[in-house]
Amino acid sequence: MPERAKIVVLFSGKGTNLENLIRHFHHQKFGDTETEIVPITNRPDAEGILRAKRYGIDTVVIDHRNYKNRELFDTKLVEVIRSHSPKLVVMAGFMRILTPIFTSQIEAINLHPSLLPLFKGANAIMRSFESGMKVGGVTIHRVSQELDSGEILAQACVGIAEEDTLESFTRNIQETEYRLLPEVVKKLLNLPDP
Ligand code: GAR
Repeated sequence: MPERAKIVVLFSGKGTNLENLIRHFHHQKFGDTETEIVPITNRPDAEGILRAKRYGIDTVVIDHRNYKNRELFDTKLVEVIRSHSPKLVVMAGFMRILTPIFTSQIEAINLHPSLLPLFKGANAIMRSFESGMKVGGVTIHRVSQELDSGEILAQACVGIAEEDTLESFTRNIQETEYRLLPEVVKKLLNLPDP
């Protein structure tokens, strides 16, 4: 029997990174390990729910509007994550500010579309593009109490050329995310080649 390694993916919107992780890891065998993706969202209208459905995967929805405050939402989120005993928790477009209830109990990694510590927070791609810098990029870091500030695990640069538009730069950032995030997941789980 292969060992099961569940990967919880937290997301809030489109879920293209979720879909990419599903393609790489859902019911995939790496040596003696079989990986499985467990998607969780805070938004019942998140497009990623439909993407996961196309692969026959149900998303756990924890609607943050049903919780009086961040602490109560995070308590529920921690409970649901723990019930799956995941080997790894990945935040891929999860647009929530986390409380210590989450960060003190769950070890997670986060994908962020800039070269941290530059451009923390929302609209990082646009702010990076408009900064006048000739490079932007993608960061994957451990989640800590302070927003977008935990230990950096991997980074990749994305050039900003004269002819780039916000759309073309965004596409290049996304392509880089689709390459970098699975690499880091594989490394953290010590997965051999399939
Ligand atoms: C990704 O570009 C990710 O880096 C970003 O949200 C996007 C989600 O896209 N995350 C943040 O900005 C976190 N601060 P997706 O839903 O299509 O995967």
